[in-house]
Amino acid sequence: MYVRNCLPFLWSCLLISLRATASGDEDADADVDTPSRIVLVSSLEDHCQTEGKVTSCRGFEFAGEDEKATFDLPTEVRIAEDGTTYEVGDEEHSRTLIFENCTFTNFPLRLFYTLEVSELDMRGCGIRFIYWENFSIGADKLVILLLSDNQIEVLPTKTFRGAGNLEFLFLNREVGEYAFRSQGRHHQMQYVDLSHNPELVVLLLNINATNLTVRNCSLDRVNLYGSVTNVDLSDNRVRELYFPASEALEHLVLRNNSLIQLASLSRVPRLRHLDVADNPRLGQLPEGWRTPHLEMLVLRNTGQVELPLEALQGMQNLQKLDISGNNLTEIDPSAFPTLTQLTHFYIHGNNWNCFSLRNIMDVLIRANGIAYTVDNYDPDFPGEYFHGIACMYRLPEKEGVDSSSSEISASVESSPITSNSDSREVDKLREELRAVVKHFESKFDLMFNKLAQMNEQIQAFEVLNKTVWSQVTLSV
Ligand SMILES: *[C@@H]1O[C@H](CO)[C@@H](O)[C@H](O)[C@H]1NC(C)=O
Ligand SMILES: *[C@@H]1O[C@H](CO)[C@@H](O)[C@H](O)[C@H]1NC(C)=O
Ligand SMILES: *[C@@H]1O[C@H](CO)[C@@H](O)[C@H](O)[C@H]1NC(C)=O
Ligand SMILES: *[C@@H]1O[C@H](CO)[C@@H](O)[C@H](O)[C@H]1NC(C)=O
Ligand SMILES: *[C@@H]1O[C@H](CO)[C@@H](O)[C@H](O)[C@H]1NC(C)=O
Ligand SMILES: *[C@@H]1O[C@H](CO)[C@@H](O)[C@H](O)[C@H]1NC(C)=O
Ligand SMILES: *[C@@H]1O[C@H](CO)[C@@H](O)[C@H](O)[C@H]1NC(C)=O
Ligand SMILES: *[C@@H]1O[C@H](CO)[C@@H](O)[C@H](O)[C@H]1NC(C)=O
Repeated sequence: MYVRNCLPFLWSCLLISLRATASGDEDADADVDTPSRIVLVSSLEDHCQTEGKVTSCRGFEFAGEDEKATFDLPTEVRIAEDGTTYEVGDEEHSRTLIFENCTFTNFPLRLFYTLEVSELDMRGCGIRFIYWENFSIGADKLVILLLSDNQIEVLPTKTFRGAGNLEFLFLNREVGEYAFRSQGRHHQMQYVDLSHNPELVVLLLNINATNLTVRNCSLDRVNLYGSVTNVDLSDNRVRELYFPASEALEHLVLRNNSLIQLASLSRVPRLRHLDVADNPRLGQLPEGWRTPHLEMLVLRNTGQVELPLEALQGMQNLQKLDISGNNLTEIDPSAFPTLTQLTHFYIHGNNWNCFSLRNIMDVLIRANGIAYTVDNYDPDFPGEYFHGIACMYRLPEKEGVDSSSSEISASVESSPITSNSDSREVDKLREELRAVVKHFESKFDLMFNKLAQMNEQIQAFEVLNKTVWSQVTLSV
């Protein structure tokens, strides 16, 4: 089989190519309203041949929209040696079922009821309507399903839920092949939901769809070739996302995966909403991102050690930014881009340096009335809470400490927190720092009062430049 050849290391795969026709609400409604005609198929003999485990069928014709083929095959039984009767289906009997040159406008009913099918090939069968109920009984043996070159318009939620052993899902027949090439109309599937298929590891899709939802599977790799507007792949194990036609993306949710990078998403000009929370190994965002329409960026628990300032520069419309649950220690407010639309900035659950946190809170967050969330209070936390957000006092590591600037920095330099293993020493040091900070707090408040008065701004900085606060990068 082609797919096995293309991926020999995977023992099997599922290949589906969905050939959508113009969104057909009227058609779907018509289908609901039209009384359907059940046509029984009570034997495979006329149309099918079995060789080994492969059954090939030809010439089934159920083209009418109201016509529903229903497989009603007699269950084969045989007498066991001890005289009890049992169904053959109890034995390992799964087979490959191939329909060639057949037409089933409605996916056939009860197909899996008496036949144990592990591989079903229904390519080019003119299928337009498919129902989740039809996979609810007996489809659990199904490992490979080929539905390319059909005319499926909608895959309702949970369509394949009963097919819990689907291993791989490929929604295009060959890389680069467009199933809709010859169609002149605008082809767009409304809604595809393949969620809750625990064996689904690989997803290769070639569809144009408005919403694609594949949550709570075991996806490791996802290749999306068509253009999709809203994608939710949460609760998988996606490490790589290959998405060459990402220009149409508006919502992308990849929560709780194993992403290590997003490099393939360099072209997302329409992206408005990106949620990659709980991808602890993600690290940096792609460079040179152009995301002028991004309104919401969730980077919670994504292993950030620095704010992606460069990426943020191109996000003039950002309203919500969540960088909580990372390992951020400081932000230089002067380097922070002008985000005039920002209304929510979640920064809790980080490793803030109190010096920097004060800056962020006073210059960025509180000064602009931006909403934020606080840390859970832990009485044993060795640091402080500043407006509810945990922080520790640390002098910046990179910049050398200018001993002439103040006696405080000199005392810190002589016994840095990080190298001190004696907790009493640390406590003492912290008390010292607290005292110092209290002392400067009044000055700090004063400074911001002055900041409000534009004419005294420069003067305030001059004063600050002479203090310990010179260690903190501070500019407006
Ligand atoms: C396909 O089926 C139709 C009728 O159902 C028949 O006329 C035609 O010859 C078949 N084609 C092939 C290639 O089997
Ligand atoms: C297949 O789906 C159709 C349409 O929803 C439903 O009427 C029928 O009962 C289903 N049959 C089976 C066996 O799943
Ligand atoms: C995830 O899928 C499994 C079946 O694989 C199901 O039992 C579980 O309820 C699903 N979880 C959620 C949150 O839907
Ligand atoms: C998706 O839509 C684009 C533009 O409308 C079209 O060129 C492309 O062939 C379509 N792809 C598929 C898989 O339908
Ligand atoms: C499609 O996705 C968008 C954005 O996530 C969502 O607002 C909308 O409700 C979804 N539509 C359906 C039918 O689920
Ligand atoms: C993350 O996804 C896995 C499935 O891949 C699921 O079992 C787990 O509960 C999810 N975790 C959270 C916090 O939702
Ligand atoms: C956070 O980063 C510091 C270095 O900047 C490192 O020592 C520490 O282990 C990190 N913590 C976590 C939880 O990653
Ligand atoms: C603060 O000092 C730095 C050099 O130490 C200087 O470049 C800067 O202009 C000073 N800032 C103000 C507001 O005086």
